[in-house]
Amino acid sequence: MKFSIATIPGDGIGPDVVREACLALDAVGRRFGHEFAYTPVLMGGCAIDATGLPLPPETVKVCKAADAVLLGAVGGPKWDNLPGNLRPEAGLLGIRAALGAWANLRPALMFPELAAACPLRPDIVEGGLDILIIRELTGGIYFGEKGRSPDGQSAWDTEKYSRPEIERLLGVGFESAMKRGKKLCVVDKANVMESSRFWREVAEGMKGRWPEVALSYMYVDNAAMQLVRNPRQFDVIATSNIFGDILSDEASMVTGSIGMLASASIGDGSLGPGLYEPIHGSAPDIAGTDKANPLATILSIALLLRHSLGLETEAKAVEAAVRSVLASGLRTGDIASAAGSPSKAREKSVGTREMGAAVVAAIEAKTGPAKDRT
Ligand code: IPM
Ligand code: MG
Repeated sequence: MKFSIATIPGDGIGPDVVREACLALDAVGRRFGHEFAYTPVLMGGCAIDATGLPLPPETVKVCKAADAVLLGAVGGPKWDNLPGNLRPEAGLLGIRAALGAWANLRPALMFPELAAACPLRPDIVEGGLDILIIRELTGGIYFGEKGRSPDGQSAWDTEKYSRPEIERLLGVGFESAMKRGKKLCVVDKANVMESSRFWREVAEGMKGRWPEVALSYMYVDNAAMQLVRNPRQFDVIATSNIFGDILSDEASMVTGSIGMLASASIGDGSLGPGLYEPIHGSAPDIAGTDKANPLATILSIALLLRHSLGLETEAKAVEAAVRSVLASGLRTGDIASAAGSPSKAREKSVGTREMGAAVVAAIEAKTGPAKDRT
């Protein structure tokens, strides 16, 4: 089949990792008989430099018309002093809203091959970690009314959620839980915030439709603590935009694999296709130096194949290829073992391009359990 992919390489290491991900997707195309046509568009700092806007209208148009959007990263110190609505981050929030990508799926997965990189005591993560954080992405305080008082002496942002916004997000939470460990934890601050009490009320009204899912609630401060105390208690976490932003960074670090984690931002498809991106940032200090780890972006194409193109076998083939490359000992700097550690001797340190090429080779070598359709 033929698919059109809008790519947003963005800033910093974004272009480095998106390039490798597209090469991996091409390898998927060769193996399974698909064709991927890429249209690169500008967003973030590079768009500000070229057009004066972080999200040019042309970018929105191309992304909406594509079958899926692949994003690298945006932002960097060069654009840090611009007003809020002209910063690169405004482009990211804008494209999420324009595509109606209101559910952000952030799997925090510990790769057994990288268990040594986990900063928690081995007994705490014994058996591995596999948490899915589902973050509301186009509402709440990041999109609520904000402002400054005329005297310039105060400022505000507003947390506001409507029933439909909560229902659709929790619906993804319940459905995801059904496909996994059947546990859903709604994280909020219901002991203080009215909007959180509303989230609970909506969840209570929905839970009867998924009787097999064990629904629980947790205050966000406690959840932040529990993620390091006993992260294995979690299966699916569903939460608001700001809490999900914070907790997903924490969860990713807990797995020890921040350079490895992918994310999918999806909606009901009525405004546009899904958006896929690594959760690490733009790392401007190593941009263009062949040091970035491309695996999080390559794993993002696995999510893209699964969620936007409905190609599960192909998605699994990408994931299997990444696992086989890790098993063969290849490591970019961010996932290398500490000097002198026992595992170090079995590792080979590689750059962005060599890592990407190894994944391409593994996809083409039909590594792993995936069965080809063609
Ligand atoms: C993320 C990032 C963004 C967010 C920033 C860059 C606007 O932190 O994707 O988590 O807060 O959503
Ligand atoms: Mg964040």
